[in-house]
Amino acid sequence: MSYAVRPMCMGDVPQVNEIDRECFPTQWPTISFGRELPSNRLFRYLVVLEDSNSPSELIEQLDQSGSGSGSRFPERLRRFFSAANTSRSSTNQRILGIVGFWIMAGEAHISTIGVRPAYRSHGLGELLLISTIELAHILHVHVITLEVRASNSVAQALYEKYGFTKVGMRRGYYSDREDAVIMTTDTIISAHFQSQFQRLKEAHAQTWGPVDRHFT
Ligand SMILES: CC(C)(COP(=O)(O)OP(=O)(O)OC[C@H]1O[C@@H](n2cnc3c(N)ncnc32)[C@H](O)[C@@H]1OP(=O)(O)O)[C@@H](O)C(=O)NCCC(=O)NCCS
Repeated sequence: MSYAVRPMCMGDVPQVNEIDRECFPTQWPTISFGRELPSNRLFRYLVVLEDSNSPSELIEQLDQSGSGSGSRFPERLRRFFSAANTSRSSTNQRILGIVGFWIMAGEAHISTIGVRPAYRSHGLGELLLISTIELAHILHVHVITLEVRASNSVAQALYEKYGFTKVGMRRGYYSDREDAVIMTTDTIISAHFQSQFQRLKEAHAQTWGPVDRHFT
């Protein structure tokens, strides 16, 4: 199975709401994705999805299967599949995870990150965080921050792996009164951060394979 990362589009909203409910059952709904997506330009959402049998792969397979008999994949169908490939329609793509963040004054704040339970521990949360850091860098962000439940040791381990440190606490922050830990990176444009980041990205690609990432 291969994966791809791209910006969330309106067609993704039903699946993203589903993931939000699966990831945050006690806080759901955390965000009104359908309302925020078109209206708030400060927010960025990325999704990770299954990238199996993309139209271009299908064309290749059909071409190869017909090569012995001399028949070729019909040109009209080839054009149809190529168009489907570039339109990035979400109707037949299974979304597995989401990350959202907003940007203000050179700072990005991660507001949500989650992976469907059945797909956890396969590097997808890490892939979403890598994509966030890459996009934040492109957008000239200096620092990335977030809040995480004090009891959420899994998410904290992920953030710590990418250089986030605990800088404070918000007492009783969540609706059930649990405390939030505030975590932040050092400046992500520093040579030190970037060299650590490149190392982690390469290790991730070696373990899980390369991933197609689009941010526009
Ligand atoms: C947090 C979350 C996004 C991690 O996604 P994931 O795809 O399972 O994580 P990955 O497989 O990419 O693992 C990346 C890192 O996360 C940490 N991690 C993942 N699963 C872990 C576990 N069971 N125990 C401890 N650390 C874990 C590790 O640091 C891991 O790096 P490693 O593989 O080098 O040990 C996922 O657990 C999730 O969706 N949780 C519910 C929603 C949530 O809590 N979001 C965070 C809100 S602040």
